[in-house]
Amino acid sequence: MAEQVWTAVDDYFAGLLVGEDPVLEAVRAANVEAGLPSIDVSPNQGKMLQVLARGARHVLEIGTLGGYSTILLARALPADGRLITLEAVPKHAEVARGNIARAGLAEVVQVREGQALETLPHLEGDPAVPFDLVFIDADKPNITEYFDWAVALSPPGSLIIVDNVVRGGTVIDAESTDPVVQGVRRFHEVLAGRRDVTASAVQTVGVKGYDGFTIASVH
Ligand code: SAH
Ligand code: DHB
Ligand code: MG
Repeated sequence: MAEQVWTAVDDYFAGLLVGEDPVLEAVRAANVEAGLPSIDVSPNQGKMLQVLARGARHVLEIGTLGGYSTILLARALPADGRLITLEAVPKHAEVARGNIARAGLAEVVQVREGQALETLPHLEGDPAVPFDLVFIDADKPNITEYFDWAVALSPPGSLIIVDNVVRGGTVIDAESTDPVVQGVRRFHEVLAGRRDVTASAVQTVGVKGYDGFTIASVH
């Protein structure tokens, strides 16, 4: 019952505020066709990323999948903006590159293939650095390390957004043996002690069920 209402309300807002988009529909179709998991951000979440990215010039994303969130973030950027997105699975990177080209964003977006902890050190010195916004949405056990990198690569005032921090409420289970849950918990415990960022976590419901995101601003 509750889930049905969340979905209906999400669809209601998406209908009003997100609307039809042939490019994004083609992206979703290409992802399904390629057998990618349906774990991209929802239309409303993607639109929120786009809103938060307004005014940004340089964006870093960790976890590309088919490039759905990538395209929404990149659409917020000016013509000379840059977005670098990191993806470990070659098949995902290939599908994403096709989708990004179809969206007309090949000049703005660069997909870097490899384990993010291996590709992140190569970003130092890149003209796209520093970043005004970082979206962390890859493997959850490493989000503490990804966040360290995000802070190191972002000047004061930058936003860092971490996806999937609630996971149906499992985040509060201290005894969980799930490495995803433990990764999310470890991240927030470290975050609580950081003095170089201000952060908040927001729970969300909608077409993707019950989850949430954490958003931090760099001092
Ligand atoms: N941001 C996407 C969804 C990303 S799903 C969207 O909303 O549209 C998570 C992605 O992170 C998957 O494609 C997965 O292959 C990738 N990933 C997982 N572990 C990774 C790692 N260690 N380094 C880079 N990417 C990784
Ligand atoms: C999963 C990953 C995500 O990034 C997401 O938004 C939802 C689910 C997953 O790995 O299950
Ligand atoms: Mg996610």
